Amino acid sequence: MLIRKRPGWEIAEREATDESLALSRRSFLATLGYGALGAMALGCDFRLSGAAADPKLRAEVAATIPPARPPFPFTRVPRFTLDRSLSDEIVAATYNNFYEFSAEKDQVWQLVDRFKPHPWTVEVGGLVSKPQTFAVEDLMRTMPMEERLYRHRCVEAWGMAVPWTGFPLRALLERVEPLPGAQYVRFLTFNRPEQAPGMKSQPWYRWPYFEGLRLDEAMNELTMLVTGIYGHELPKQHGAPIRVVVPWKYGYKSAKSIVKIELVDRQPPTFWETESPNEFPFESNVNPARPHPRWSQSTERLIGSMETRKTLLYNGYGEYVAHLYA
Ligand code: MTE
Repeated sequence: MLIRKRPGWEIAEREATDESLALSRRSFLATLGYGALGAMALGCDFRLSGAAADPKLRAEVAATIPPARPPFPFTRVPRFTLDRSLSDEIVAATYNNFYEFSAEKDQVWQLVDRFKPHPWTVEVGGLVSKPQTFAVEDLMRTMPMEERLYRHRCVEAWGMAVPWTGFPLRALLERVEPLPGAQYVRFLTFNRPEQAPGMKSQPWYRWPYFEGLRLDEAMNELTMLVTGIYGHELPKQHGAPIRVVVPWKYGYKSAKSIVKIELVDRQPPTFWETESPNEFPFESNVNPARPHPRWSQSTERLIGSMETRKTLLYNGYGEYVAHLYA
């Protein structure tokens, strides 16, 4: 990979010139018959330029996506509208940050075979009156499931827009009854190196992945636990069977494949903040005026297109969350 002990996504793709990255892209392109084009495309990711229109690749990726079957789809909430088109589902399913599998976004979907997201339970505990362990299917039966269109913004300066299916995290937290001392929520993800090759090949990271939010952020109506995307259950590469989505923060706050949610009284350490606190601080709200130490955050590229947009403060969700930071 690019730099040991450093997430590949620390470096905006357009700035990355590392030979190993270039070679891995070139070989992937070559398998798709884009050899010459691949050499020309170095430094700009081919899927951002729409090359995922390749029918053979699309069919291969589609095979990793679960079919739409009951209880999906759930009703879409009309109030969450978008200022851009939905991202191409196939592009979104091949452009993933999921370090448990690989640090290379275009590899993740090809490395998830052995991962078993069913059956799955989520333990909810810590500073709560009613700690409980929930099966994901039970959550889908008993929680207020709905579909919402959200923008998603990665710290690497790319964005996508997708329909998530899930429920407000608040509904789950209310079920376990937070105690007065609870101030933060800690998310812990799975630890299965035998199913997730990146955990073995990158032993320098502090597995399993862990993230956190303030309790008022977790209780905000935008914060969702999601089990589906594009009207079906989550493909493994998007964090099956359950992940959190926090649309006004950079994507690394949205931990995938969660096994434990714990309410705590102190700000918990987080995976990337522990690696590099100046680059990936706990709060991490999307903010065009606050550059990453090594690149600007003023614009973003929309995956699956050549379009560049101005980054929106709080990713455009200020009306829901600005008061949290007044
Ligand atoms: N969750 C886990 N467990 N492991 C990860 O590596 N990467 C994060 C986040 N959640 C990550 C994770 C980052 S950096 C981003 S941008 C989003 O997942 C990407 O989500 P997507 O692949 O569904 O677009």
